[in-house]
Amino acid sequence: MVDRRAAGLPLEYVLGWAGFCGLRIAMDPGVFIPRRRTEFLVRQAAALARETASPAHQAASPADQAASPAHQAAALARPPAVVVDLCCGSGAVGAALLAALDRVELYAVDIDPAAVRCARRNVAATGGQAYEGDLYEPLPAALRGRVDVLVANAPYVPTQAIGLLPPEARVHEPRVALDGGADGLDVLRRVAAAAPLWLAPGGHVLVETGRRQAPQTVETVSRAGLIPQVASSEELSATVVIGTRPVLPS
Ligand SMILES: C[S@@+](CC[C@H](N)C(=O)[O-])C[C@H]1O[C@@H](n2cnc3c(N)ncnc32)[C@H](O)[C@@H]1O
Repeated sequence: MVDRRAAGLPLEYVLGWAGFCGLRIAMDPGVFIPRRRTEFLVRQAAALARETASPAHQAASPADQAASPAHQAAALARPPAVVVDLCCGSGAVGAALLAALDRVELYAVDIDPAAVRCARRNVAATGGQAYEGDLYEPLPAALRGRVDVLVANAPYVPTQAIGLLPPEARVHEPRVALDGGADGLDVLRRVAAAAPLWLAPGGHVLVETGRRQAPQTVETVSRAGLIPQVASSEELSATVVIGTRPVLPS
């Protein structure tokens, strides 16, 4: 193992797992290694999934919720949050959301068969499903208009910047996991454009992006008819753009 690491193989491939949100995520060589900064995406998504799936739950204090049998009964009667993890790679984001949320229906998608095999290992045991295909294409049609939270840590490195990445990424991670096209936003634009079709009214799409890419990402999300918001963490150097499908008066 030391020889393989000394030869430059990323530690997570040598060990066969990566630490993420306090979990051990099974890793296969050639699958994108989840980054620490993406834990911020998980935190934002988990908070919104809790709110979206349980507006009534929010109104009460945590102490009331714990104490009140009525609140507990209401929690059990609620349908689970519907969460989609697009561009799921190893399934780390979806696995972390399954661990963080009480009741969730999770659908994960990746275009790379090696990633999908790995994601199945990480999400299937806790009830998630992983599909192979291009963005929304393999999702069950019945999910249209029903998704509460759609997360996507899609590739967002501009093509010209790939050569500047550390060798662990540049040499060992697949190009399809990194290359976001000329400005890095090619895949994100497609995620945002189709999101309104899949989101429930009031549902959210959350995408990780670069700090300097945030204004363009916000524009992309607004152009799709979603209400944009930026969340960032200095500590994790993470930027997440959130788009919310408006709830129109009936
Ligand atoms: C930056 S990696 C993120 C993986 C995972 N979400 C994470 O945070 O660890 C991007 C992933 O997007 C996948 N991908 C790229 N283009 C895609 C597409 N058109 N449809 C589905 N997945 C795609 C890649 O195979 C890769 O696994």
